[in-house]
Amino acid sequence: MIRELDKMSVSERQDILQHVIAPRPIALVSTIDKNNNPNLAPFSFFNLFSTDPPIVIFSPCRRVRDGSTKHSYENICEVPEAVIHIVDQDILHQANLASADFDRGVDEFTKAGFTPEKATRVRPPIVRESPAKLECRIIEIKPLGTRGGAGNLIIAEILVVHISEKILNASGKIDQQKIRHVARLGGDWYCQISQENLFTLPKPAFPHAIGFDGLPEAIRKSPVLTGSELAKLAGVPEIPKAEALAESESYLFQLMDKRSLSFAQEVHRHASSLIAEEKIAEAWQILLLIHPNNRNEQKYF
Ligand SMILES: Cc1cc2nc3c(=O)[nH]c(=O)nc-3n(C[C@H](O)[C@H](O)[C@H](O)COP(=O)(O)O)c2cc1C
Repeated sequence: MIRELDKMSVSERQDILQHVIAPRPIALVSTIDKNNNPNLAPFSFFNLFSTDPPIVIFSPCRRVRDGSTKHSYENICEVPEAVIHIVDQDILHQANLASADFDRGVDEFTKAGFTPEKATRVRPPIVRESPAKLECRIIEIKPLGTRGGAGNLIIAEILVVHISEKILNASGKIDQQKIRHVARLGGDWYCQISQENLFTLPKPAFPHAIGFDGLPEAIRKSPVLTGSELAKLAGVPEIPKAEALAESESYLFQLMDKRSLSFAQEVHRHASSLIAEEKIAEAWQILLLIHPNNRNEQKYF
């Protein structure tokens, strides 16, 4: 399916874009109006864009139904300060409640059952229950249009970060496994970070990896190895030197004994299972036995 955005209604466009551009972290944003009335609302058009200076951007869009602006945006135009709270599984339902379309001036701290606390460098109150709070001064407001659905980019500089003890490890650093982030996807879908779905991914070799085009052609065109498996092989700084690993050789001899017709495919399958165990160096050695990088290294074919 190919769709042109200018031929869609705003809600159809929003539906498609929010499903595909996901997951998005959720900022629970505290602001005040010029009379000091607090306001709280969640925004998932939100992310980190710079660390020096430390900049986040979020976007309270014009309401799709009538093009009117949201209270958070109006407050920031009056008092250019905010506290952004990271939403975790413990406060998601209360943050969702704060998104209800209450009248301007209604205090969502009270409506959603949050505890307000005084911030150190800005005037809007802090939500005590959030695991991480960012006190921000707004450095730029960039309206993107005047129709319903138009975003208003709020460019905010972070002045102070408050981090709850409950997400720190024994050395006082933030423990990724302890922040139970939630994120927004399309429609009413959300996802949550838990021990089961967290994983680490090492960076490619520094200063550069060999890349797909650096893989020997017979490996790159493998009918067995997937894009992910090839990417792991292509993440090395150079094609390794073939080593006579006893294990690799005995495996190869077993296959030769069988006179397997799909010999190369079997070798690729074996490499695939090694890659699945993150044994990238061993996978390279198996592959190099039949696809030597340097002809002089070729031992069996
Ligand atoms: C998880 C979540 C994320 C949301 N993200 C956005 C967003 O990025 N931009 C937006 O305009 N509205 C977003 N909304 C809807 C606003 O929170 C909602 O319109 C709210 O009433 C705005 O409050 P305000 O008028 O007090 O600023 C989101 C709602 C939820 C529940």
